Amino acid sequence: MSLKTLGIILLVAANLPAAAPSFSRDIQPILQKKCQGCHQPASRMSGLDLTTFDGFSKGGTRGPAFVMERPDDSIVVRYLTATLQPRMPLGEPALPASEIALVREWIRDGAKNDSPTETTELRTPVYLQPPVITALRFSPDGSEIAVSGNSEVLIHGVDGTAPLRRLTGSAERILSLVYSSDGKLLIAGGGTPAQFGEVQIWDPKSGKLLRSTRLTGDTVFGTSLSPDESKIAAGGTDNSVHVIETASGKELYKISNHENWVLATVFGIDSKRLVSASGDRAAKLIDAASGAFLENVNLLRGELAAIARNPKKDVVVIGGAERLPYIYLLDRPRNMKIADDTTLVRTLERQDGAITALDWSPDGKRIAVAGAAPSVNLYDPETGEKKASCKGHEAGIYAVAFSEDSSKLATGGFDGKVRIYSTADCALIRSFVPAPLSAGTPPGRPQ
Ligand code: HEC
Repeated sequence: MSLKTLGIILLVAANLPAAAPSFSRDIQPILQKKCQGCHQPASRMSGLDLTTFDGFSKGGTRGPAFVMERPDDSIVVRYLTATLQPRMPLGEPALPASEIALVREWIRDGAKNDSPTETTELRTPVYLQPPVITALRFSPDGSEIAVSGNSEVLIHGVDGTAPLRRLTGSAERILSLVYSSDGKLLIAGGGTPAQFGEVQIWDPKSGKLLRSTRLTGDTVFGTSLSPDESKIAAGGTDNSVHVIETASGKELYKISNHENWVLATVFGIDSKRLVSASGDRAAKLIDAASGAFLENVNLLRGELAAIARNPKKDVVVIGGAERLPYIYLLDRPRNMKIADDTTLVRTLERQDGAITALDWSPDGKRIAVAGAAPSVNLYDPETGEKKASCKGHEAGIYAVAFSEDSSKLATGGFDGKVRIYSTADCALIRSFVPAPLSAGTPPGRPQ
C-alpha cells in the first residue's frame, strides 16, 4: 500500500462519524450514578423520575426533560450547563464536559430509547420464597420491627402480622438499618451489586423516602448513625468509609485508608470519633469531623466483619473470620507501643462459625454474637461468661438486634425468618417470615 493510499484511508476514517451515543450504554449509567439519588420513584424531586426512559422523557414539573434533536432547547441540558439554575446534579460538581457532550449528542441524534426493557421501574416486590434477611432493627418505642427485603424495608408490628408498611426503593439490597432515637428517621444502607451503593433516609411512619445518597459503584455496608444523629457512616468495597450529613444527605468526606472492604462502622459516644472495621483485619479510629485517621484500635489478627459499641462507654466489640469476639477500649494512650495490646479488655469464647453480626444491649449488660453457626450467643461483657444461646435457625445469621428496653433479641439470616427471643433465657417468643409470600409454587421448585 502506498503512503498516499494510506493517507486517503486515514482521512476517510477521521471523517466518519463516531458511533452515535446509546441511551442504555452511555446515558443511563450517567443518570444512575449522578442523578437517581434524587430523581427516582420513591423521591421524585421536582416531579422527575430518571430511573426509566419514560420518566426521563415525561420530565418533571417543568415538562419534558428533552426535545428531540434540539439539545439547546432541552431542559436537561440547560440544567446540566447551568443556563437554568440550580445546576444539576444539585450540590455536586458539574458533570465532565465529555458526559454533557454525550447527552447533547444523544438528543441531537433523535433521543432514541434502545434500553431492552424498563427493568429499573420500582414495582412492589413479589416473593415466591423467603428472602435472606441481612438487616433488622426494633423501633425505639419497641412497637415495630424493620426488616430487610428485596428492594425494600418491611415494617412489621412486633407481633409479626402482615407488614404494616413497605418502603420500596431502588437499591436491591438493604444491608443495614438504624433508627434515630426518636424513631422519626430510619436509615437504610445497601445498594445494587456492581451498580451503586446507597444510603436511604426514610420517614418510617409515612413510608416516605426523605433523602437518598448514592455512594460508590457497589453496595455499602455497616451503615451507622452518630449518637448526636448529625452524621451517617457507611463502608464500601472501595476500601473507604463514606460520611454523610444526616440533615442534607450530602457526602461530607470519604476516608480511604483500608486495604480491603469496609464492612462495619460505629461512632464513639461523643460523636467525635468513629471506628471502621475491615477485611484488612484493622479497626481504625477516625476523627469524625475532619476524617483524619487517629490510630488502630486493635492489633491485627483475623478479617473483621462486625462491630458494636457499649451504649454507655467507649468500648467496642469486634469480630469476623477468626470467630473470636474481642472487646477493646476505643482509645489507645498516645505513648503506647505498636505491639502493646493492653487496651484489649477481654476476648469472648470462640464461636462455631465466622462472626457476621454483633449487638450490644442498650442497658450495657449483654453482647449478642451471631454468624455462620445457627445459634446466637449472649455474653456478659463484664465477666465474659456465656449467659444464653438462642437456637432454632437452620443456617447462618446475618442480623441481630436488641430491643430498646434490652428485654428482647431479634435475629434474621439465611432461612428468611425473624425470630424474637427473650434476652434473659433465649426463650423463643415468636417467629415469622416478614416477606409477604405469594401463593403458588416457585418455578422449577416442585413441592
Ligand atoms: C441532590 C439532589 C439532586 C440531584 C443529585 C440531582 N437533582 Fe435534578 N433536581 C433536584 C431538585 C431539588 C430540583 C428542583 C430544582 C428547582 O427548581 O429549584 C431538580 C430539578 C431537575 C430538573 C428539572 C425538572 C423539572 O421539570 O422541574 C432536571 C431536568 C434535573 N433536575 C435533572 C437532573 C440530572 C440530569 C441530574 C444528574 C446529572 C440531577 N438532576 C441530579 C435535585 C437533584
